[in-house]
Amino acid sequence: MKVLVFGAAGFVGRRLVAELTRAQVAVVGADVETARDSVSSPIHAIDVSERQAVASLVAEIRPDVIVNLAYATGDALEADLDRSTRINVNGHLHVLDAARDCGVARVVYSSSIAAYGTDQSVYGDRQITESDSCPLEAHGTTYGAMKAFNDFIARRVRAESAVETCGVRLSIVFGPGRRHGFTAWTSHMLEPARGDAIHIPVAPDDPMSLVSAADAARLLALAVRSPTSLPPILNSGGYRVTARALVEEIAKIEPRLHFHFSETPAAPIFVNNVSGALAEHALGFRLQPLPTALRAEMAGQ
Ligand SMILES: NC(=O)c1ccc[n+]([C@@H]2O[C@H](COP(=O)([O-])OP(=O)(O)OC[C@H]3O[C@@H](n4cnc5c(N)ncnc54)[C@H](O)[C@@H]3O)[C@@H](O)[C@H]2O)c1
Repeated sequence: MKVLVFGAAGFVGRRLVAELTRAQVAVVGADVETARDSVSSPIHAIDVSERQAVASLVAEIRPDVIVNLAYATGDALEADLDRSTRINVNGHLHVLDAARDCGVARVVYSSSIAAYGTDQSVYGDRQITESDSCPLEAHGTTYGAMKAFNDFIARRVRAESAVETCGVRLSIVFGPGRRHGFTAWTSHMLEPARGDAIHIPVAPDDPMSLVSAADAARLLALAVRSPTSLPPILNSGGYRVTARALVEEIAKIEPRLHFHFSETPAAPIFVNNVSGALAEHALGFRLQPLPTALRAEMAGQ
């Protein structure tokens, strides 16, 4: 099996490339940024907003599966909506169209729990499943609305072509090495300069839905390699935990770390009660226990 990964140099992409390589899958990486130290194998320089470039690369590589993780996130997304639409919306479409035109069997892409919005009360106090959706006016972020639109477009391509699309709605991903996104603080809390108090820009007692970077990569790799057909959308599920409970867990592992919370929370945390039952049913995927996942990420595994 040959897999082409767009966004291969990113936080999740690097881990996915490593995970697939460990499973003996032939991986070709592509990213607009190719000069990062931690990327082990060479990757193709490509901007997914350039339709012809995406088409040519897919025609040249002829992968069995494409993974699209290329995205503009966080403040960069909001700061230049024209550019981020070209990457996040047009780029997504370019990948799907190239897959269809080249007979690629499957496209797995990173959706997000942001597609369900920022407000759990839209759903009530229950687990959100893949058949739920967020009314457009209830979206708290452009990011979430774009993810929902990505899912809409992918479903259309899936219905109208032979490409099997699967959007993996990841919870907030924690692990060292993340540089972009509204929730990059979940990375910074694991990799502070010793002695500094770590700023947590959310309210201490609001629950969130979190998944470790290792588990996110493992789930994406399971979707890539699945011998059976995939549903159009799969939630990762996540640990439902408050920031206060999270830092208490971290302090058990590394008691020298100190944290302080925002008095006026500055980062969205999205919905917090997301079911991972379908991913368990379809792929046998289960999250590691939270202390195990935290320990592994803090050890840089
Ligand atoms: N990190 C999280 O908490 C989280 C949660 C849910 C979903 N996701 C989704 O997972 C995906 C990967 O996120 P990440 O955290 O690894 O982000 P990241 O910013 O580290 O990775 C994105 C990659 O896309 C590349 N990229 C950006 N513009 C590009 C372009 N025009 N052409 C080609 N490549 C381009 C970047 O260089 C980067 O390497 C995104 O779709 C993101 O929305 C992430």
